[in-house]
Amino acid sequence: MNRIEKVREAVDAVLLNIADAGERRCGYMHLYGVSQACVLIALKRNENAELAAAAGMLHDIHTYATMDPRDHAHKGSAMARDLLNSMKCFEAG
Ligand SMILES: [Fe+2]
Repeated sequence: MNRIEKVREAVDAVLLNIADAGERRCGYMHLYGVSQACVLIALKRNENAELAAAAGMLHDIHTYATMDPRDHAHKGSAMARDLLNSMKCFEAG
């Protein structure tokens, strides 16, 4: 399993816990869609597309984990860091 597959597996585990089917669908569309947009922007700018894909997948992870958007930037970055560290395949910069 490559790094992006690991990120998707972690994100899917969060999304599958959303009880409401409509909210769950929204979560998949949003996180996977933003991830793809991030890849396109990264490729256009000659940046790291893999890291852009991971960042896009994780950018709202706390919101979908809790269904609470308050302070999602700070809480989401902490949750994303913990998830990435637990995967043991992304080095801290
Ligand atoms: Fe978002």
